[in-house]
Amino acid sequence: MIKILKYINSLPLPITVKHYVSFGVADKYLNGIWGEGDAKKRWQVLRERHPRYRIPKDRKTWLEELCLRKDGQDDRLTERVEALAKLIEKEGIKTFYSIGAGGGVFEYFLKKRIPNLKIVASEYTEEGVKRLRNVFLECDEVEFFDALDDKSWGKIGKDTEGVVFIYRNEREFSDAQWRQMFAAMHKAGVKRVFLGLMNMLTFLAFIQEKIRNLKHRFKGERLHFVGFLRSQHTFRSFWRGLYTDTEVYFPNCRGIYLKKK
Ligand SMILES: C[S@@+](CC[C@H](N)C(=O)[O-])C[C@H]1O[C@@H](n2cnc3c(N)ncnc32)[C@H](O)[C@@H]1O
Repeated sequence: MIKILKYINSLPLPITVKHYVSFGVADKYLNGIWGEGDAKKRWQVLRERHPRYRIPKDRKTWLEELCLRKDGQDDRLTERVEALAKLIEKEGIKTFYSIGAGGGVFEYFLKKRIPNLKIVASEYTEEGVKRLRNVFLECDEVEFFDALDDKSWGKIGKDTEGVVFIYRNEREFSDAQWRQMFAAMHKAGVKRVFLGLMNMLTFLAFIQEKIRNLKHRFKGERLHFVGFLRSQHTFRSFWRGLYTDTEVYFPNCRGIYLKKK
């Protein structure tokens, strides 16, 4: 019985829904720039001003904020780093390409854990790249990288000892964009990809989100579109035929390690 309920909860169907959140009092940071087509502008403002998403301009503040409860900084962050470090060592990986690295916090702790791992952190806004370069001095390279530009993958594809890391970015892309990315990575020869997924759509998660957002509406808060949620079934369809996948222990997140077929 429990098995059947778990199966139903996992939504074994191709299903993707739009995801809305309330930013509560922090709403004032986003006024007027939270349209669906404005993702780049939205990240620019969040990285500049929003207390939860800001990348500090100076290294001192960035270092001080590394252990705060901010976006992606929960109390199991270093356990995730440790889990991935073990996989990297086991697989003999030499270069770590983090796509959409944001504030670079995961990458900072990983670099401390494996100092001889080459870390290439990237972002797709000029401002994000500039800020990360200013603060993350241990990083081997910080570069501009648009995951939706197929040509970007060429360089990474040539590195046979590298892994692509896409962490907590799953909501950013539509289903068509995810398919495009996997096709481009595969074509470029990218051998390994590690996905750290924070939100998987389940039946329960869907109901909980509806209730939560209803409460926000009653309080008079605005809801903002922040991307897409999809079921595990849908996710797997993105790389089917291109990569094999293995689930990896990755606390408070979902770790999936992909290898090129
Ligand atoms: C939710 S944040 C996660 C950031 C970071 N990985 C973390 O865990 O804190 C999503 C990130 O994806 C980046 N992003 C969105 N679209 C992108 C694209 N087309 N190419 C590369 N990065 C992108 C955004 O700039 C943003 O920093």
